[in-house]
Amino acid sequence: MTSLTPVDSSHSLDPQRLESLLSEPHLMRVAVRPPRIMVRGSGSYIWDHTGARYLDFVQGWAVNSLGHSPPEIGRALNKQANTLLTASPAFHNLPQLLFAGELSRATGLAQVHFASSGAEANEAALKLARKWGRLHRNGAYEIITTEGSFHGRTLALMAASGKPGWDQLFPPNMPGFVKVPYGDAAAVAARIHEGTIAVLVEPIQGEAGVVIPPEGYLRELRALCDRHGVLLMFDEVQTGMGRTGTLLACQHEQVRPDILTLGKGLGGGVPVSAVLASERASCFVPGDQGGTYNGNPLMVAVARAVFGVVSEPAFLQRVRAAGAELQELLSPVCVEHGASLRGRGLLWALVLPEARAERVVANSFERGLLLNAPRPNLLRLMPSLRVSNEEIAEMVEVLQHALRG
Ligand SMILES: Cc1ncc(COP(=O)(O)O)c(C=O)c1O
Repeated sequence: MTSLTPVDSSHSLDPQRLESLLSEPHLMRVAVRPPRIMVRGSGSYIWDHTGARYLDFVQGWAVNSLGHSPPEIGRALNKQANTLLTASPAFHNLPQLLFAGELSRATGLAQVHFASSGAEANEAALKLARKWGRLHRNGAYEIITTEGSFHGRTLALMAASGKPGWDQLFPPNMPGFVKVPYGDAAAVAARIHEGTIAVLVEPIQGEAGVVIPPEGYLRELRALCDRHGVLLMFDEVQTGMGRTGTLLACQHEQVRPDILTLGKGLGGGVPVSAVLASERASCFVPGDQGGTYNGNPLMVAVARAVFGVVSEPAFLQRVRAAGAELQELLSPVCVEHGASLRGRGLLWALVLPEARAERVVANSFERGLLLNAPRPNLLRLMPSLRVSNEEIAEMVEVLQHALRG
């Protein structure tokens, strides 16, 4: 582990220049950010330009699976950066060939295509399903997705997602998606017809606020898809790579999809994602899909190093144990504040009785704890998968104050 010494704020810019930078004259305003600049991270902690330290239970939105700046990533980056940055996707590179085999063996899916973001992997997944529909379902193209779902921010994925209000933002919306309530297999059954090619779900809805479907939901979807001869697609961009205590969240129900997407924790902090497909679904031919950074050796070498850690049974066991600890310590807090708790592994949401999550996030921030509020009444916790019991206890103590404040 790197040392935990706070940053030396003496390198910081003069106050006037800082104020001018923080007024964001040259940044498009796509987010509201606190007037701090994050400058350094280590494990479960991150420091801003003033030297203030925060216990990070956001971790780049469930991205830094091994925490901030883990040594494994530094080593892999350094080694690969000094070996080969990129040769272009027109040539083979060793990290891609090796990691494709490892991921395929771990997931039971025949083939892999690497990309850079969750959205890019999901776009590839949609294209794969549409291609499959053209080949095997007489040109059908309809995909059943779920209300509340989040699959990414491209135009196609905004149409596929069920995030409230998104259908109003950038019309006209891409056709070909049918939405049903999440967790309701009968609702899916009612909408499958000859024009359907696939069912796409998150095994646990992340951005909707860690919504866990009823036990058996994924198995029922698998059976339905098999009965109707359509593809089952899981978006595990948020839930995959150990986040829920198993390598994939769908392994909780021992269900294997035809198409699977991974991102976020796959790279542990660097931009890499993947779409995987079974032999029957893997129907791309040269020219169908690609991208300048697809299979980039630098990023894939990092993903491989992260995978080497998170795929270890003892590591996953520790994620489950840490999740149990978090649940145990947070339960009395929930009782005191009339909140409820839901989650698995190290992906949790605290459901507040009132819409005050933003205020609690701001209170926590002032007290040195980073949390996220995906909905007005929801706090989401997604710490490093290496979070210690002491750090969990520290989070609970700060949160307790922030909830009272
Ligand atoms: C389930 C799921 N799919 C896709 C995405 C999009 O990933 P990215 O932001 O890397 O494009 C997200 C991001 O939060 C997600 O949670």
